[in-house]
Amino acid sequence: MPTPDHSPPIAPPRASPTTGVIVTGGASGLGLACAEALAAVGRPVAVWDIDAEQAKAAAERLRGVYGVRAAALAVDVRDVEAVRAACRQTRDLLPSIGGLVHSAGVGGGGGIEGFDPEAWDSAIAVHVRAIPLIVQGVIEDLRRQPGSAVVAMASMQARLGDGRLPAYTAAKGAVLSLVRSMADALAPDGIRINSVSPGMMQTPMLERAMPQGPLREATIARTMLGRFGEPAEVGRVVRFLMSDEASYVTGADLLVDGGYLASARRFPPPG
Ligand SMILES: NC(=O)c1ccc[n+]([C@@H]2O[C@H](COP(=O)([O-])OP(=O)(O)OC[C@H]3O[C@@H](n4cnc5c(N)ncnc54)[C@H](O)[C@@H]3O)[C@@H](O)[C@H]2O)c1
Repeated sequence: MPTPDHSPPIAPPRASPTTGVIVTGGASGLGLACAEALAAVGRPVAVWDIDAEQAKAAAERLRGVYGVRAAALAVDVRDVEAVRAACRQTRDLLPSIGGLVHSAGVGGGGGIEGFDPEAWDSAIAVHVRAIPLIVQGVIEDLRRQPGSAVVAMASMQARLGDGRLPAYTAAKGAVLSLVRSMADALAPDGIRINSVSPGMMQTPMLERAMPQGPLREATIARTMLGRFGEPAEVGRVVRFLMSDEASYVTGADLLVDGGYLASARRFPPPG
């Protein structure tokens, strides 16, 4: 162990790995922002999305704006065979696969009154089961590339109780514990895995879930930074976790919520 006096000086930011990344849900919102943040540092991207047209448009944008290799794959990440096929196709389309960002997801799901087993299964399949399924499909690729990393999109909802969203919050809570277990399993291969828990981010999903109105106003008022987040503010954090700058970070969850969870503000304000 070098003593503090003899340790090497801290170097400027290390170059990102240049390996390719699969971004699920990459056609919209946070996934698209992650794809752009990674493309901006030269990483090739495979945009996986259930929306084929939007995925194509996203890949075209990545190629046009950032000049990187980008491919679009129409895939429903709940479909086991479709995921396996997409892993094989991605191997042919990208120069290498050294990362995965799992951002595909859907909000809502209904409360206990309207309990729908199919909606629950679907929430778990898209938010949780897809992660080990995709990692299994590309594990040899990840092992081959130094610095391989995975980021899963959780949510601050994983830590909140919300009677309107039990399937969604349960699925996001499962993402946190899955990430810890997978971090243990993947560490011997040098592969890191973390999650990001966004708060309220300005995306099409949020516009559907929280249109203008008193709930939206109260949510913004509780948020310490006093505004919803921009997708790029998640994209940059994900890019950090995918880079060698985060070489000693695994099994962790990073909150990106503008201070919402830490806030002790009360509504209506006292007095
Ligand atoms: N927006 C927020 O405030 C917020 C907050 C916390 C967590 N999240 C999470 O971030 C992720 C992205 O959300 P967003 O706000 O960008 O939503 P979005 O609706 O803008 O994007 C989600 C994308 O996932 C795709 N998708 C949905 N189901 C899919 C499936 N089965 N297979 C493949 N692709 C599928 C959609 O077509 C869409 O392109 C989700 O996991 C969401 O739960 C969002």
